[in-house]
Formats: sequence, structure tokens, C-alpha cells
Amino acid sequence: MVCVMVISVLVLVHAAYAGDGLRIRGVSLTKNSLYNPDRDFTCFDGSKSFQFSLVNDDYCDCTDGSDEPGTSACPNGSFHCPNPGYRPANIPSSRVNDGVCDCCDGSDEWKNTQKCQNTCNELWIAEKQRLAEENEAANIGIKLKEEFSKTGLSKKAERQAKVAELETKLEELSAKEEDLKISKEEIESREATALEEHRRVKEEQRLKEAHEDNLKRGAEAFSEMDSDKDAILVPAELVLHSELDPDTSDSEFTAAEAEVMLQADSVDLNYFLTNVWPMINSTFQTTLAPPVEQQEQENQEVKTEEDLGEDDILRGEVVDEEDYYEDEEETDQEDHQEEEEAEEEGPSSGP
Ligand SMILES: *[C@@H]1O[C@H](CO)[C@@H](O)[C@H](O)[C@H]1NC(C)=O
Ligand SMILES: *[C@@H]1O[C@H](CO)[C@@H](O)[C@H](O)[C@H]1NC(C)=O
Repeated sequence: MVCVMVISVLVLVHAAYAGDGLRIRGVSLTKNSLYNPDRDFTCFDGSKSFQFSLVNDDYCDCTDGSDEPGTSACPNGSFHCPNPGYRPANIPSSRVNDGVCDCCDGSDEWKNTQKCQNTCNELWIAEKQRLAEENEAANIGIKLKEEFSKTGLSKKAERQAKVAELETKLEELSAKEEDLKISKEEIESREATALEEHRRVKEEQRLKEAHEDNLKRGAEAFSEMDSDKDAILVPAELVLHSELDPDTSDSEFTAAEAEVMLQADSVDLNYFLTNVWPMINSTFQTTLAPPVEQQEQENQEVKTEEDLGEDDILRGEVVDEEDYYEDEEETDQEDHQEEEEAEEEGPSSGP
């Protein structure tokens, strides 16, 4: 395309020169028609008209410089380089014949035609090369862009796949979490049930033990009161325990009152435990106090040892640990003190 354009420009330029030979120096093709040698010349700003021979006579007649397009006579004139083979250019007319080659076709130095070499072709070749390189770079860029967008697309697809994968995993994990929550609740409820059962069994055992203890104390009371050791309790034996007197208004605990209490004139152990002991177990006082107290004391001692739970043991360990750290701190402090002392001594012990 560019090549075709250049060729057509070349043809046009050539035609203008060769056709009527009237191409005016320093004038572009488009403005050439404004310079007609058969007529008077009128400055472009219309300020003056004069005979055509004054055009390019190296004397500035028009303030706009239009009468001297091919010389440096006008201060603000413009010189047109045709630059065949390359692109035309306009330069300030002050550069015409100033000894410097401004146009690639050398047309600005027309007084000394040896001065300049035509570099338009070289320029064109260089430019073509530059354009080709730019074009190639652009093509590479386009290819890269395509690749990037392709890899970008595959990366995006990868990311989306990853996101989908993670979402699935998340769903799985939340389902698992839900399962674990449920089984945790199950375990907790089972634990609570077991704990409740444990408490129930313990309470049952406690009641049973209390009942047995009650019966044991009853049997002991029976044997204590059965002073003739005939395994039968009679009112006469009961009255010795004045604390059992149901009627505190009179000081006497009579055999009649004792008989009412026994609900019979004599009772054996079984009958006593079932019918009598429950009524008197809270008021009965043993006279065999010492051995029973001793036993109670022993029981208490055993209990305190049993009551020592894991917590107490742990607490003991914690105390030990604190002691340990305190020891360490003390050691640290001692170290610091020693260091400080060493520092204080340092300078004074020097020369
Ligand atoms: C240059 O040209 C312009 C018109 O294009 C004109 O108005 C101006 O006076 C000119 N300057 C000089 C210094 O001749
Ligand atoms: C006395 O016996 C009754 C019935 O057996 C019992 O409920 C109660 O706890 C006993 N009292 C004492 C102090 O042992």
C-alpha cells in the first residue's frame, strides 16, 4: 500500500516537472496553480499585486512571504521540498541556501547543487525497514496477546475448577461437621444418662448401707438392752434406758410404758427390729460409748483419706510447679545482680 502511494507521488512529481516545466521553486503541487507566469502575481494576503518576474527574485515584496517561496528573502516564508522517493516537507525559507542540507532531495541548497546528496531513497528504505520491524513487533505482540488470553482463559478455567473443588470439599466438611455434632450430642446425652445411672446406683447403695447400718445399730441396741442375754427383750430390761421414756412429764420410765413401747410383754430380735427399733432409734443412747466413738474416729480418718480426689493431687502438683518457677526466678535475679555488679566493677577496676 505505502509502496503504491509512493510510486503515485513519484509519478505526479515527475509529471509536474516534465509536463509544462513551470513548477515554481519552493512551491508545493497544491499551491502551484497560484503561481501563473502569464499573469501578475498577487500576494496571498491580497495586499499587493505586481508583475510575475518579481516572484523568487530574492527580494521580499509580500509581508506574508508568498512572493519568495524559493528563496530566503522573506523572514517568514515557507520552502517546499518535493523530496521525490520520500515524503515532501516544508521548511522555513530562512534555511534555503544556508549551506545546510535540510531537504533529503537537496532542493533547498539549489545554488550549490554539488553540496547535497539525495538521501530520500535511503531514508525511504530505512523507514520501510522500521515500519516492517514495527509491524513484526506488532504481530508478535498480537500473537503474545492471543497466547496470554488463551493461557489467561485456561488459568481462569483452572481457578474456577479449583473453586468448585474447594466448594465441594467445604460441603463435605460441613456435612462431616454436622455428623460429628450429632454424634457429639449423642455421646453427651449417653454420658448424662450414665452419670444419672451412676448417681442413682450410688444413692441406692447409700440408702441400703444406711438401712443396714440402722439394722446393725438396732441389733447392737437389742443385745445391749438384753441384759440377761436370753435373746428376748422384756419391759423390765427396757426401763433401764431412761432416755427412751416417752412421757417426760414424770421422771419415771415405767414397765407399763415400756410394754406399750414394745407392743408386747416380750419380743425377739426380729420383732424388735421390725416394730420397735424404728420408733426408738433416734432417742436410744448406748452406754457402751467409748468403743463406738473410737470406731467413728477411725471411720472419719479413713473417709478423709478416701475423699482426697484427683483434684487435690493435681493442686499439689501445681503448688510444686509454682515453687519450681519461684526458684528459677530467684536464680535469674541472682544472675542479674551478679551481672550488674560485674558491670559496676568493670570501669573502676580499669586503669
Ligand atoms: C509573516 O506572515 C504573516 C502572514 O502570514 C504576517 O501577518 C506577518 O506580518 C509576517 N511577519 C513578518 C515578520 O513579516
Ligand atoms: C430410724 O429408723 C427409720 C426406719 O427404719 C429410719 O427411716 C430412720 O432413718 C432411722 N433413724 C436413724 C437416726 O437412724
